[in-house]
Amino acid sequence: MADQSFILSAPGKVILHGEHAVVYGKIAIAIGVNLRTFLRLQPCDNGKVTLSLPNTDTHVSWNLHELESLTSAYYQNDLVNPLPLLPEQIEKLRQFSGIPAGDADTRILAVLAFLYLYLSIFAKSRLPSLKIVVWSELPTGAGLGSSAAYSVCMAAALLNAGSVISHCPLDGVETARWNENELDIINKWAFQGEKIIHGNPSGVDNAVGTWGGALKYKAGEITPLKRVPVLRILLTNTKVPRSTKILVAGVRDRLKKFPGIINPVLDSIDAVSCKCEHVLEEIAEHPSLSHYCVLEELFDINQQHLNVLGVGHPSLDRLCQVTLSHGLHSKLTGAGGGGCGITLLRPDTDASVIVAVLQELRDCGYDCWETNIGAPGVSLHVPSALREEILHAVSGL
Ligand code: PMV
Repeated sequence: MADQSFILSAPGKVILHGEHAVVYGKIAIAIGVNLRTFLRLQPCDNGKVTLSLPNTDTHVSWNLHELESLTSAYYQNDLVNPLPLLPEQIEKLRQFSGIPAGDADTRILAVLAFLYLYLSIFAKSRLPSLKIVVWSELPTGAGLGSSAAYSVCMAAALLNAGSVISHCPLDGVETARWNENELDIINKWAFQGEKIIHGNPSGVDNAVGTWGGALKYKAGEITPLKRVPVLRILLTNTKVPRSTKILVAGVRDRLKKFPGIINPVLDSIDAVSCKCEHVLEEIAEHPSLSHYCVLEELFDINQQHLNVLGVGHPSLDRLCQVTLSHGLHSKLTGAGGGGCGITLLRPDTDASVIVAVLQELRDCGYDCWETNIGAPGVSLHVPSALREEILHAVSGL
């Protein structure tokens, strides 16, 4: 067990194009958003394991000897290739924590995911005493991959503490990242955590949290985009609650009712994603304003398509109108029906425009952030390079 405390972070994700169409085997492009989850791990010598999740006011602590009685059920022979998660392993953790079967509160599932990862990663050696604080800039339940960012941070932290992956040197740099093989190990373990929190995840969110940048997702296959520029965006949470399940079912009904009309729309969304992928690669190589104009048009086209699929919402129409009145282009991201939208900013978008738009969107009752997409994946940080707010939050104060 490493004897140093450390802080690491992982990004959330947005879907740039391809939501809903991806359910029918079309391409989706998921991209890292620089609203991040931060985790601080501190080795302790008090014989306890403490987990604090200040965003949800969750604080739990266990004695090591209680946890030691569980380890045999989580023994992993090969920490590089985790064994598939078994329902009885989760059931055992529920019983241990006194949580009724079927309780799907995200706070509880986050604690179960931690226990599973901790016991599995350390069952082979000695359980270490430690304190972990996780704090996030990401809203939960908004389709921005907050649970995946949590699982990626947790997997990376425990694998780092257990020396399963190397201790990245932070000499003279503000952030460090692990090598490809190590990222692959982090991603596999993070996927296990995601399964506990999400049930049946596609694996895209944890892959974006691990590698960052952008990924193409098609029929279960995930391919990282080779060159991805960092793009400025506004991310808006309309705070209108929506159910991904109901919205996906609504698209299915419409497709069944009007196959000749809806199938071409899904094909067109696929073509939008393809075009977007090419434009992103071109921007990464030779950025020019004309490329941004194409991205803006693709936003407009796809937003119309998503409205045709029936997943628009007046709150999203409002977002598009407000931003367009300042010359900016927006689309929904994720399931739609409310939830979140993204607005593309050009490199030359004036700061005064951004201030005005943010104000108008907040006046609509929305949460809104200026941030980047194409953000780096899981990273280790020099604490002194982090904002005061983050340091304060992960200090567990
Ligand atoms: O639940 P969200 O907002 O992360 O997005 C769901 C994306 C869909 O394409 C609508 C559904 C899916 O499973 O891909």
